[in-house]
Amino acid sequence: MSAFEDRTRRCQDRLADAGADAAVLFPSTNLFYASGFREEPMERHLFLVIPSEGEPAFVAPEMYDEQIRDASWVEDVRLWADGEDPIAVVSDLADEMDLRGGRLLVDDTMWALFTQDLRETLPDATFGLASEVFDDLRMRKDETELAALRRAGQLADEVSVEIRELGEDAIGMTETELAAEIDRRLAENGGEEVAFGTIAGSGPNGAKPHHRHDDREIRRGDPVVLDFGAYADDYPGDQTRTVVFAGDPPEGFAEVHEVVHEAQQAAVEAVEPGVRAEEIDRAAREVIEDAGYGDRFVHRTGHGVGLDVHEDPYIVDGDETELEPGMVFSVEPGVYLPGEFGVRIEDLVAVTESGCERLNDSPRTWEPL
Ligand code: CO
Repeated sequence: MSAFEDRTRRCQDRLADAGADAAVLFPSTNLFYASGFREEPMERHLFLVIPSEGEPAFVAPEMYDEQIRDASWVEDVRLWADGEDPIAVVSDLADEMDLRGGRLLVDDTMWALFTQDLRETLPDATFGLASEVFDDLRMRKDETELAALRRAGQLADEVSVEIRELGEDAIGMTETELAAEIDRRLAENGGEEVAFGTIAGSGPNGAKPHHRHDDREIRRGDPVVLDFGAYADDYPGDQTRTVVFAGDPPEGFAEVHEVVHEAQQAAVEAVEPGVRAEEIDRAAREVIEDAGYGDRFVHRTGHGVGLDVHEDPYIVDGDETELEPGMVFSVEPGVYLPGEFGVRIEDLVAVTESGCERLNDSPRTWEPL
């Protein structure tokens, strides 16, 4: 059985447990997770219907016939041609699967255009969200997923080192030029595409946690927050280092960097099965609060990472998810001093039987390499 089919079977068990009759997915990471077929959301009707029992089926535009059969283990593909009514195909499938009065879990990211169609076509059905079964399922990564996440981590590590080796050459580059250089090297080292807009926040721009990049030139002594990653085998990397390319950093920077570094270390060391996600946040926050910067750590400590760059579990106060082997998330505390600089250090970790494995291991120091 393929990894994709295995995931679908586990999804079916959960659908039954949740009292749902089917999941209705449209092009999304859930659809890829279950079927192996990947496509961007689009205006044509393309669904994967997974009943709680029996075989799943695609409803798809005719032009996707071969593509779906090549990519997916799902054999039942119901086609409609441009100019035909896709709703008739959906309606027939609902009859066959006995879903008319059922409880259907639709993809959280499904366009309203399609959920409205489903509601009109199946007025007696009730609707919920697919996250009800998929979020929990996707939290525990299987071996295929862990291998891909390791590769994405390595890729970010390689580029992190290469970029830091620019040293003096980075001085005078704009943030936008530096970000483009990062993206180019990610692609050159085998990355599929960037996992999110690359962040190169220099000097005061680093104090805005999600500042991407602009035309500010990097000066000697500037701390620069570098947060980036690319997909490898469909899974993203996400790593942050705060570095100085050349020259002496501003007063107080080295101390703040040390605090964030210690907070990150403390949080990573706290990761083991049975610990709640929020306790990892607490471990990082305590170090930063004790150093007097508690009010400058303005975001959660991390987020789960899988097919989506942000997914469950969230490393935040109130997330009581008990960590289990196979969960993967970021540990990324930061301290932000408006008008001066910011510091963030981020690695992805995978929970193991006895603790965790860091998926990133490039130097975390700020000094030029
Ligand atoms: Co992150």
